[in-house]
Amino acid sequence: MNLLFKFWSSSIGKKWLVALTGLALLGFVAAHLIGNLQMFAGAAKINAYAEFLHANEKPLWVARIGLIGAFLLHIAATLSLVRANRAARPESYALNRRVQSTFANRTMALSGLTVLAFVVFHLLHYTFRTTDPRFKTIAEGGLLETSFDVYHMVLLGFQNPLISGFYILSVGLLALHLSHGISSVVQTFGLKSKKSGLWIPKAGGVISLAIFAGYASIPAAILLGLLK
Ligand code: HEM
Repeated sequence: MNLLFKFWSSSIGKKWLVALTGLALLGFVAAHLIGNLQMFAGAAKINAYAEFLHANEKPLWVARIGLIGAFLLHIAATLSLVRANRAARPESYALNRRVQSTFANRTMALSGLTVLAFVVFHLLHYTFRTTDPRFKTIAEGGLLETSFDVYHMVLLGFQNPLISGFYILSVGLLALHLSHGISSVVQTFGLKSKKSGLWIPKAGGVISLAIFAGYASIPAAILLGLLK
């Protein structure tokens, strides 16, 4: 806690908090993608994976609490930095900055807020299963064989083009957010003038694109009838 207050007390410290929590969230996004890609390995594989995760409640809750903490800190430190920047920056500088900034840079707030809205919907959709009455077991009046039948739940969910479209748009904005975020991490960690400052942003672009392609491939494959 003491360390957290030390970080929070300066703007450099807050930038480090945004960068470190961003990297932790990137780690989750990559791990979750690897888990989700098991959709292509068939129902037995991904359902066994879901059952394995839920059988380990303690580590699962530790990871969840870490994830929520990182998410909240990432947003709170960003908001605090934006507020301090606005208060310090004269209007004309804001106009000049627009010329130099990239599209990903200018859309950080929009992409971040869309990802936030997406995560809320996504949790209601597949974790709490409150948006679709079919996401219950047959015994409970739904269409799933067991509560770990993630394969059929995702299949049913993405057969709706509106929902699939929203997921694809959201993971696109997530990728845009990540591509700028990874470049910002380089600056925060003071690596910009070193060799790694050149290749990390490029690698960030490739990682973001791979994350987009990986996540979007699942709703796309279901809409195209490649997963049944
Ligand atoms: C094609 C895209 C995605 C699919 C198919 C998918 C699938 C799922 C499923 C099935 C669950 C529920 C797991 C269970 O309870 O057994 C879940 C949970 C979750 N997903 Fe996703 N997901 C996708 C994209 C994302 C993205 C892009 C993010 C983050 C930006 C994300 C964040 C989460 C979180 C935070 C949880 C809750 C984890 C927990 O506490 O159990 N998901 N996802």
